[in-house]
Amino acid sequence: MDFSAELYCLLHRGSSGDLEYYQRLCQGADRVLELGCGDGRVAQSLAEAGHRVLGVDLHPGMIERAEASKRSLTASARDRLDYRVADISQLEVEGLFDRVVLPFTTVFCLSATEKRSCLESALRHLRPGGLFALDTYDAQIFLDEDWGDDDDFVPMTMLTHEGAELTIFERTRTNLAEQIADVTYGHQIHSGPKAGEWIEYTIRHHYCSNGALYALLKDVGFGDIEVFGGFDKEPLTGDSERVVITARPPEQP
Ligand SMILES: C[S@@+](CC[C@H](N)C(=O)[O-])C[C@H]1O[C@@H](n2cnc3c(N)ncnc32)[C@H](O)[C@@H]1O
Repeated sequence: MDFSAELYCLLHRGSSGDLEYYQRLCQGADRVLELGCGDGRVAQSLAEAGHRVLGVDLHPGMIERAEASKRSLTASARDRLDYRVADISQLEVEGLFDRVVLPFTTVFCLSATEKRSCLESALRHLRPGGLFALDTYDAQIFLDEDWGDDDDFVPMTMLTHEGAELTIFERTRTNLAEQIADVTYGHQIHSGPKAGEWIEYTIRHHYCSNGALYALLKDVGFGDIEVFGGFDKEPLTGDSERVVITARPPEQP
């Protein structure tokens, strides 16, 4: 959790179609819980769509950014939106929710033990008849082959941020035995007061197969689990860019 929220948010703006997907998923819902809300990208759009939203994130810098961007919302959307700094693998918040969402690969931020306790908590916080959803990438590429330490920095994109030009590089190193991918972002700053500086941070992904996610959801007690290959409920194939999973609490007897 030592990455800079500012640098992280420069680069991670979600996946194409994800906001629309979570809006559709939440239609008819009153309360929505977003686990790992980051700077509030998804939570904010759901509050604007009329839902009462609680966004939770462990990174205080993320919640600071979320609170800051909340100021640009209408008064009614602001009233519907709350944020909290908390660990989603040990979450206890008051009340039940119609939807619990875990967007944009956040599930891979969690170790195997944390995944389990996070999903248990998601289930505990869902109202009967509610719906849980997550999206992530297909980790099969990392399961097929150990990338080890072979991968070196490759340029990803060039950006201008606060008047300074920078090139962002990415490097992925994996450990197949432990199902860990360390993704390092390097920022080469070309102009402005920090010209010549190199800033890097690493995000650790605890990846797993889609089958393992399915089995875990089933094991913690979810039912009606569906796995899709995108935000339009496409079938999952080897070419799917996103894996989208929905699940429901078990039917009441
Ligand atoms: C990939 S970002 C997703 C942000 C947001 N959901 C979005 O779609 O833009 C993952 C977020 O999960 C948060 N996170 C990681 N581990 C967490 C934990 N154990 N408890 C709470 N938040 C966590 C990170 O701080 C980060 O903001």
